[in-house]
Amino acid sequence: MTPFPHLEAGVLESAGKAIRQRFPGLSPQLGLILGSGWSTVVDSFLELDSCDAHAIPGLGRSTVAGHTGKVIVAESHGIQTLIFKGRRHWYEGEGWLPVVLPIYLLKSLGAQGVLLTNASGGIRPDLKPGALILIRDHLNLMGDHPLRGPHQTLWGNRFPDMTHIYNSIWNDLITAVSRGLNLTLTDGIYAAVSGPSYETPAETRMLAQIGADIVGMSTVPEAIMARASGLKVAALSCVTNTAAGLSSASLSHDEVLAVLQNSGDQVRHLLDGVWKKLSTSTLFTGGAS
Ligand code: HPA
Repeated sequence: MTPFPHLEAGVLESAGKAIRQRFPGLSPQLGLILGSGWSTVVDSFLELDSCDAHAIPGLGRSTVAGHTGKVIVAESHGIQTLIFKGRRHWYEGEGWLPVVLPIYLLKSLGAQGVLLTNASGGIRPDLKPGALILIRDHLNLMGDHPLRGPHQTLWGNRFPDMTHIYNSIWNDLITAVSRGLNLTLTDGIYAAVSGPSYETPAETRMLAQIGADIVGMSTVPEAIMARASGLKVAALSCVTNTAAGLSSASLSHDEVLAVLQNSGDQVRHLLDGVWKKLSTSTLFTGGAS
């Protein structure tokens, strides 16, 4: 048995076959992975078709509240988009397959980019609940790596370059859209931890010292796999709480979901504006990586 049987090419290919059978003619230009509480964003898209995530072998059922587990074929401003409403996490304990399969599916269906979204704890003092962050870079502190194991060329090189993991042209476009909408969007460094416990105050202090602005339990594996396999990547985070130890409040997943509920309009407008701008941009046609 290989250390990571679940990422074997055959398993991935059968998931690819299943999604093509379920959605004949599917040809997404972009992917969108919606993290905790980001589900309302789908309202800015025209839904063309959908299925339960567990209908695609390997995606399984999310075990986390706020992650509905749907795969949606949608369109916005003429851009066909495959939306994963509800993501799977490393801490759910089912290995990397459910976490990174959306990226494989997007790549094999010919998509050119993926926007990742998540909820996070704010570490930098100005990042209060409700703040929107454009992830500029990350720290992988999950204690594992989705590319560990035998090299498979379908994910690109053995040692993929992560210098420009988050696409700077796409980032500039998102920033311009947020300014046009008068939304405050700051950029920041995301530290990914495995969870599922929130951090201890000492861990939060350590994260601040090593350069993290926000902390969460997702996104980095998908970003790594997407960049390695040649997709363009951007990532947005909504701060839902101040990280542990920085305020007297105790942390709860319900609070995370409630904050995102309040930010629903903002994030919906932002994504609508980004898709509108992408529809006239050369980012996904001009070959810039
Ligand atoms: N820590 C880790 N993950 C999170 C947090 C946090 O404070 N908030 C939302 N996801």
